[in-house]
Amino acid sequence: MEQLKAADIKVIHKCTSVRHSLKAEKIGCDAVSVDGFECGGHPGEDDIPNGILLPRAAEELKIPFVASGGMANARSLVSALAFGADGVNMGTRFIATKEAPVHDNVKQRLVEASELETSLVMRPLRNTERVLNNSAVDKIKEIESNHRGDDPNSLLEEIRPLVAGSERVLRDGGALWVIGSYHNILRLGTSVQNLGFWILNDIIWHKTNPMPNFRGTRFTNAHETLLWCTTSRKAKYNFNYQNLKELNEGKQMRSDWHIPICAGKERLRESNNQRSHPTQKPEALLYRILLASSQKGDLILDPFLGSGTTAVMAKKLQRNFIGFEQDQNYIKLAKKRLKQTKVLEDEVVTMTKSRKDLPKVPFGELVEQGIIPPGAVLTDKKEKFKATVAIDGSLKIKDISGSIHQVGAKVQGLPSCNGWDFWHVKDKSSSKLLDNIRGDYRNKKIN
Ligand SMILES: Cc1cc2nc3c(=O)[nH]c(=O)nc-3n(C[C@H](O)[C@H](O)[C@H](O)COP(=O)(O)O)c2cc1C
Ligand SMILES: C[S@@+](CC[C@H](N)C(=O)[O-])C[C@H]1O[C@@H](n2cnc3c(N)ncnc32)[C@H](O)[C@@H]1O
Repeated sequence: MEQLKAADIKVIHKCTSVRHSLKAEKIGCDAVSVDGFECGGHPGEDDIPNGILLPRAAEELKIPFVASGGMANARSLVSALAFGADGVNMGTRFIATKEAPVHDNVKQRLVEASELETSLVMRPLRNTERVLNNSAVDKIKEIESNHRGDDPNSLLEEIRPLVAGSERVLRDGGALWVIGSYHNILRLGTSVQNLGFWILNDIIWHKTNPMPNFRGTRFTNAHETLLWCTTSRKAKYNFNYQNLKELNEGKQMRSDWHIPICAGKERLRESNNQRSHPTQKPEALLYRILLASSQKGDLILDPFLGSGTTAVMAKKLQRNFIGFEQDQNYIKLAKKRLKQTKVLEDEVVTMTKSRKDLPKVPFGELVEQGIIPPGAVLTDKKEKFKATVAIDGSLKIKDISGSIHQVGAKVQGLPSCNGWDFWHVKDKSSSKLLDNIRGDYRNKKIN
């Protein structure tokens, strides 16, 4: 306080109670902002609304005070003066002004909100905040109400990522990809988990043409690790399973990716043949990442854009993008590359819908429709097992009966089986997979 006074600075302290206001007066504050229970941000722990708090402050304080909390217009000013305050402090209302550097959607949300749309969070931590309701607030409230025990630190750990806003720019269920080698990936993995992200896979990018270990003192570093994460354990993330399977000639895509490092024509070089960027990523790597976890029209952020591989692939595949890069030269390179990048045609970029997004067709529907009539015989590919279709769409083999999945699992002695990929229908000349029969039926039904 001494230093502030010496520099001729006026001190207005924010207080949410009369006793704190008096303390502020005692230590030499010039004025206080008295904040009632209504206020946005930190309303304190006493929950006394302005109708009671302001007259009480007026009775006790000698220094001037401004009324704060829910003050938004001339009406509030008049009421504050009537309560004994010397002016008002307007907080939230300013966010919705033209001049505030805040996204229009946020302003709109504030303007449209009714008086019922704020919540108090972090009460158990005695650091209560009044906040505008949104999905992050819902999650915090859920965590708070499920939290057992009285260790505030463990609760703080649980809600820290939500309060800190680390999920703010990534939509719920969005994908976070991190890449690194042994220098940093283990620390990064710890950090993303501490931030509350949920790791879905770690992927080995096996560099098929790695740089040799020139001094011969260690193993050749022939891989980097990618972490594919989403916003939380329960998040509904996007995985284009079927499309990656297509990309891999009908086999499930695995977590080991064999892709050469960026070289040849793709590698940007200076006039003296030096590489323009030391860690330019191969386009194929970004291609696979985007194909796996994004859709046409999604917004991709690369906060370390370098020479722009992510943006180039995003543009090509009709995704939107934002990139951050601190080095002007790299930005120039990225811009030039982007200019030369052609957007792929709509019909090329539109991917086959994954099976789970297609309209559901239960096996029974094929039976009812007479496409696979009761009495038909289904076999596995090698025709080792033969099952008969019953009128209710169940399969029977000797004393085993159940759904196409259950019987498929039982005859193979497996815990589960996708019957659509196991059973075939044989006619005179050929044998057709159940899933393909369903595909044909579905196409006819849709068109
Ligand atoms: C953008 C913004 C940031 C704020 N940050 C703090 C803060 O760090 N600590 C605090 O006690 N109050 C903070 N406040 C609350 C204000 O000090 C003030 O008490 C409150 O905004 C007044 O209530 P009102 O928002 O209903 O007008 C903040 C308010 C806004 C609008
Ligand atoms: C590994 S490279 C990026 C490679 C690029 N994403 C690609 O796919 O080709 C990392 C880049 O991040 C940039 N960078 C590092 N710290 C940064 C920061 N704080 N803000 C913006 N860019 C940063 C570096 O200049 C460097 O170009």
